[in-house]
Amino acid sequence: MKVVVSEHPVKLADAMKKRAQEVEHALDVLLPLPDGQEKRLIEAMRYAVLGGGKRLRGFLVMEVAHLFAVAPACAARVAASVEMLHAYSLVHDDLPAMDDDDLRRGQPSCHRAFDEATAILAGDALLTRAFEVLVDGDTHSDASARCELVAALGAAAGARGMVAGQMIDMLSEGADLNAPEVTRLQALKTGRLIQYSAEAGAILGRAAPQQRHYIAAFGRDLGAAFQIADDILDAEGTAEELGKTAGKDAAAGKATMVSIMGLEQARAHANMLASQASQYLASFGDRAATLVALTQFVVSRRS
Ligand code: IPE
Ligand code: IPE
Ligand code: MG
Ligand code: MG
Ligand code: MG
Repeated sequence: MKVVVSEHPVKLADAMKKRAQEVEHALDVLLPLPDGQEKRLIEAMRYAVLGGGKRLRGFLVMEVAHLFAVAPACAARVAASVEMLHAYSLVHDDLPAMDDDDLRRGQPSCHRAFDEATAILAGDALLTRAFEVLVDGDTHSDASARCELVAALGAAAGARGMVAGQMIDMLSEGADLNAPEVTRLQALKTGRLIQYSAEAGAILGRAAPQQRHYIAAFGRDLGAAFQIADDILDAEGTAEELGKTAGKDAAAGKATMVSIMGLEQARAHANMLASQASQYLASFGDRAATLVALTQFVVSRRS
């Protein structure tokens, strides 16, 4: 398969910035601050989801939706929904019972800025709100598309998806996993939600089955490359670059691609997966140039 790269240099950073602004605007509108005692809960939710981040998942929704000519306002709601779900996963991932991390996106993690109970509840409420946004008629005029989004997000995020990956990640601390086992762990904890983000754009656009298949395969390999890059950055990066504590995987005895194959092989594997991801976009030609550029970004990023 031939990869068609745009003749015009793709300004990926500009595109990501523009999309991030659209997603952040949608998040702001979807999480209004109420009066009363629950105000603290919404403040913690807003703190977790509006406090920076690369917005990779939201970007994927928006850019894939754009390939299928979806109205940006609809895509932004789905992008905001997946960023809420992702933020919940980070809030809970940072809790003392899990990775016990005090720093997230360059700020105190949610349970440090608020307290543990509030962080647990803010995570719960972000997870719930993500689905509530999807079922609203403003997300798509066709109820079957909305149902498909809900089913796909539930499958990607739940007990056979991200949460299963988090369970295996916790059980694997100090354990001796092999490469297929780490691949499965990472596909669940990170890959499934990234694949969903790409597929959500295709669901919104009522893509034909073959196109949906290519987008899903692209998302799967991109997600795998992304988590290996996260493992490499944990080993090589600094807290200033990452906005989160560095070196914590080795300290916790986590099973990562770096721990089992070393930095150089892990890097080569991530690059192979990123290039494989880009191959699946060939049939979209130049229109997918930004997504092709994204495959390089996920493995060359410094944060
Ligand atoms: C961090 O995700 C958690 C992983 C799944 C590796 P990101 O690196 O996308 O975090 P933000 O959203 O940019 O903060
Ligand atoms: C977290 O993986 C994945 C999810 C939150 C589902 P990590 O534990 O590696 O993420 P970071 O490094 O804390 O961002
Ligand atoms: Mg973790
Ligand atoms: Mg963590
Ligand atoms: Mg990590």
